[in-house]
Amino acid sequence: MTLQTLLIPYLARVETALAAWIPESSKQPLRLHAAMRYSALAGGKRIRPCLVYTTGRALGVPLEQLDGPACAVELIHVYSLIHDDLPAMDDDDLRRGKLTCHKEFDEATAVLAGDALQSLAFYVLAHDPHMLVDSKLRLAMVEALALASGSRGMAGGQALDIVAEGQELNLSELENVHIHKTGALIRASVCLATLCKPGLDEAVRTALDHYAKCIGLAFQIQDDILDVEGATEVLGKRQGADQARNKPTYPALLGLAPAKARARDLIDEALTSLQPLATQADELRAIAGT
Ligand code: IPE
Ligand code: IPE
Ligand code: MG
Ligand code: MG
Ligand code: MG
Repeated sequence: MTLQTLLIPYLARVETALAAWIPESSKQPLRLHAAMRYSALAGGKRIRPCLVYTTGRALGVPLEQLDGPACAVELIHVYSLIHDDLPAMDDDDLRRGKLTCHKEFDEATAVLAGDALQSLAFYVLAHDPHMLVDSKLRLAMVEALALASGSRGMAGGQALDIVAEGQELNLSELENVHIHKTGALIRASVCLATLCKPGLDEAVRTALDHYAKCIGLAFQIQDDILDVEGATEVLGKRQGADQARNKPTYPALLGLAPAKARARDLIDEALTSLQPLATQADELRAIAGT
């Protein structure tokens, strides 16, 4: 089975769940809800929700208990993309093969759509009746997602990324940007799924967390590589955007081949950390291999 085939049911689940949580565009304020739906529905690889589902499945958690956390991480991710594309940040006009939110709507609406998607993520975690965890674990999920999204996670990484434009970072400084702006939310995706399993063995939790840490960094290195050698039509966003803004990236700092080697090493490390999990982690292995 190819990875795409394997992920189809998860993509369908998260699409349905997101569509149900985000208010209809016929509800006031119309333009805000339309912008939220425009950016969040029908598009994107949904890698973070897929990580929630596949981690949860590896631990035997029923899928309906994973819909809430899967939606929550994707809502934060979409908010981060909308804000990342704003003129004040990367100033991009194409996202997921469509106009960016501020181009399709306007900047104020895009800022508010990002804000509201972020709030909705926490509402889902607090409210979803299908999550059967007790209130202590639910609170732990809110805490984990808040930490991963805020100034000590994604937003902090984005701040470092903006300051780094036109600067020469060394490898550890660049890695620090990447593990925050992208790695933190990928790690949170796995973490939220592990929190759906009360009494999880600590060694398994640590193994999964290390897996997530490795693929989180590898994912942003791969994103940097695709900015150099991907095609706009396939990426659904402009190729060459990093170079145009003089962003420090792995290929810019190391060259393409060493950047690819670093990503491969991280994937190998991720796979090694899954060894204690035997075959129930095969879907996680397949995701890491992409
Ligand atoms: C893009 O993320 C931004 C990064 C954090 C690298 P994705 O590559 O997951 O974007 P979508 O969700 O598939 O559009
Ligand atoms: C974005 O990194 C990370 C977040 C959105 C948090 P990039 O700026 O590299 O993402 P793309 O390339 O625009 O998708
Ligand atoms: Mg950016
Ligand atoms: Mg960007
Ligand atoms: Mg990028």
